[in-house]
This record gives sequence, structure tokens and C-alpha cells, in this order.
Amino acid sequence: MSETIQNNQTGQTPQAQPKRKRILSGIQPTGTPTLGNYVGAVRNWALLQNDYDCLYMVADLHSLTVREEPAALRRRTRELAALLLAAGIDPVNSVLFVQSHVPAHTQLSWVLACNTQFGELSRMTQFKDKSAKHPDNVNGGLFTYPVLMAADILIYNADLVPVGQDQTQHLEITRDIAQRFNNLYGPTFTLPEGYVPAAGAKIMSLAEPAKKMSKSDPNVNSFVLMTDDRDTIVRKFKRAVTDSEGSVRFDVQNKPGVSNLMTIYSAFTGKAMADIEAEFAGKGYGDFKLAVAETVADALVPIQTEYGRILADKAYVDGVLKDGAARASRLADRLVAKVYRKVGLLQPER
Ligand code: TRP
Repeated sequence: MSETIQNNQTGQTPQAQPKRKRILSGIQPTGTPTLGNYVGAVRNWALLQNDYDCLYMVADLHSLTVREEPAALRRRTRELAALLLAAGIDPVNSVLFVQSHVPAHTQLSWVLACNTQFGELSRMTQFKDKSAKHPDNVNGGLFTYPVLMAADILIYNADLVPVGQDQTQHLEITRDIAQRFNNLYGPTFTLPEGYVPAAGAKIMSLAEPAKKMSKSDPNVNSFVLMTDDRDTIVRKFKRAVTDSEGSVRFDVQNKPGVSNLMTIYSAFTGKAMADIEAEFAGKGYGDFKLAVAETVADALVPIQTEYGRILADKAYVDGVLKDGAARASRLADRLVAKVYRKVGLLQPER
């Protein structure tokens, strides 16, 4: 197997076409992804497969930073893989795998941790936020979380990393770590670029549109899950917070609720804000909310059907993950061996 991920579908050898850029991204199995995760991440992952060599990962090790019921974590990991497949991740063209199935990530993580400063990690806003949220469990993993994430990315020499805006600081530290390592030990890592989609990168809460939509919000009406059925989706959009003006107009500052619904509508229809305003001119919020809900349901319901079908075939999902781990490991193991050699670890007899 060459360094390039082979395209098994077209059967083309990597040499026959210019080398495609590589993408790596990850999503944690901490609960069912929301509409925000779908629009901001999952949907783009599927689209990017046409133009890039893609590796997509269920980041189960990162989920251990928050205490979880073991059986639930295991179940959610498989469910998330099935959902990604249902959403169009092609396991032949791309590499779909579970982070803990590729031990090289943690192997690289240690070396990177030894090249990351306490001060840099202390400044991470996510660490500060999460330790404030779980003061009873400010563990070492929470602190070194960005180092493992850097390992996830650098171990594949990923060129691009699609992430939400909340992850851009993690990407910056990844670049800092890579740069420092390259300076000390010679060119080793590709400096990855963030790939933050312009439109719809951030879907806000339906209840408090100043906050990001989050599956951990105690108010279930504040988010739409990728697995919510049509009736639930309609009900949640009907309850979405708007304002008293009664006109569909894009103004994030003064009309955050309506603007968020417009962003969602635009993300699914591709329509420009001005066209959406024209479409609903003179109509009430009721009509508008229903249109948004129906559009979202029309997009999600087919994925849900596919998800049910795929999840019922555990052996298939597990087989995909086994193949993905093997393909990812081939790339990752080679990089770890190179790094271990560079930092002066004695190579074991092979
Ligand atoms: N930290 C990311 C999140 O919570 C998930 C993640 C883990 C990730 N490793 C990654 C994303 C590597 C991109 C690249 O969203």
C-alpha cells in the first residue's frame, strides 16, 4: 500500500492522478449529533470525499475525558459510525475508523506532550470551560486533550482539518507543536490548515439563539438531533424562539432567533438570505418555521432510514471499522516509527 490512500472505487492508481490533499477530522461519540453537527461537520465530510483523500475518526479516547458509562460509550461509538455511513461517508473511498483502534495516536501523543508546554495547555479556553463545568473531574486527560488531537492530525500529515469554530484554538496549538517539532528534529509534520465552512458553520440553540446548539443542553427543545423524527423536528421548530417583529429578516444582532432559522433554511436549500426574505415577505413566523422544519425533516429522514438499516447489520459496521483501522494504522505506524527514531528512542529489533 502506497502512502496515498488508494481509491478502490475508480481503481485508479495514485500515480495516475495528481496527489490529492489529505483531510482528517474527528467527532466524539458523546451523544447523538445535532443539526449543528450535521450542517457544520458531517454533511461537509461527505461532500469533501470527492476532492480529497479523507480519514474520518470517531474520537472515543477524547470522550474519556468526561466520565461516561462504559456500555453507553461502546454503544454510541458503533452508532456514530453507522450514522456517518448513513450520512454518506463512503468507507471505500475514505477511511472510517475508531481512534482507540489505532494505538499509534496515543504513542505519538506522548512524544508531542513532551514537546508542549504547561503554559500553552493552561491557556486553552476549552480546558478552562470544561474544568469550570466539571470541577469534580479536572483530570490530566482534559488538560492534554489538545495534544492527543494534535497527534490525531499530525500522524496522517493531514493538509486540511474540517472543524467547527470552537476547535480553531486546538488547530492553532497543533500547528505550534508541529512547527516546534520540525524546527528541533527536522521536517517531519505537515502544518495543517483549518477548514471552517463559511456558511452554516454555526447553528445556534433554538431556545437561546445567542448560544451554540448543543446536545448537552438540558432543554431538549433547544436542539434538533440527527435522529429526531419528522413530528419531533416540526414540534421543536414551532417552539423556536423568535421575536415580536413578525418579519423574516436577516439581522443576527437584533433578530438572532429568526436569523438562526434563516441560516438553517439557507444551509439546506442553498438559498441566499435576500431570497429567503422575499419568499416569506408578508408571511408570519408560523409559515416560516414550518417551512424550515419540513426542509430539515426532508433532509434527515432518508438518513435516518439508512441509519436504521446499517445499524441493524452490526457485522457490517464492525467490518468497516476493522478495515478502516487497518488502513489508518499502516499510515500512522510509519509516522510514529519515524518520530521515535528522530527523538532518539532506540529502535527495537524487528
Ligand atoms: N475535539 C474535536 C471535537 O470535540 C474532536 C476531534 C478529536 C477532532 N480529534 C480530532 C477533530 C482531530 C478534528 C481533528 O469536536
